[in-house]
Amino acid sequence: MRILITAGPTREYIDPVRYLSNESSGKMGFALAAAARRRGHEVVLIAGPVCLPTPKGVERIDVISARDMLKVLRDQFKVADALVMAAAVADFRPRRRLRGKWKAKEGSGKLNIELLENPDLLKSVARRKGERKVVAFALETSEGKRRARAKMVAKNADFIVLNGVAALGGDRISVTLLDREGNEFEMLQRTKAEVARVLIELLE
Ligand code: CTP
Repeated sequence: MRILITAGPTREYIDPVRYLSNESSGKMGFALAAAARRRGHEVVLIAGPVCLPTPKGVERIDVISARDMLKVLRDQFKVADALVMAAAVADFRPRRRLRGKWKAKEGSGKLNIELLENPDLLKSVARRKGERKVVAFALETSEGKRRARAKMVAKNADFIVLNGVAALGGDRISVTLLDREGNEFEMLQRTKAEVARVLIELLE
């Protein structure tokens, strides 16, 4: 198969040196790319800004913002057999990116940044996915399974991987895999490489 994987955070710039982002390390997406390649698949990895080496034999495309990622994703999804959306896409971006450094008025005690909602990347590409298989990720702090199921359906994914916040940056994770038939599969305290291999086998 030709498997498309997104990984890492996105970065939404306020000015040339400041941005909004999140804690995603990219490790899960990179582990998925390595696992897919090891099992003989063709792999395209769309990576947000992370400091990780490219797994051997993987084609990597670096992006910065959610909208950059959407452009590449649209192109690459056309020629993919499956998509694993492990990236932690920023839900909002500053309304404008200033050309020069933002000079706030000192002494006013507060600042407002106007944010605009980013497009939902997965939803927009998976809407017409046909036979292609799609895996979403969800990171929830409460009511995890219910919320994850709702996301899987809303985003038209075939599977969703439910993580807790402990997954961020960690090497061992506990995840619950949910599918459209109502099945649940739990993996406790596994390395990201182990979880990645199971997910790729599931896609196969
Ligand atoms: N995702 C996406 N585009 C976005 C936000 C999220 O494609 N703008 C994808 C993520 O890559 C992940 C899945 O959607 O596979 C779930 O993301 P999540 O942020 O948990 O969902 P949201 O709909 O943003 O919900 P919440 O407000 O709870 O964060």
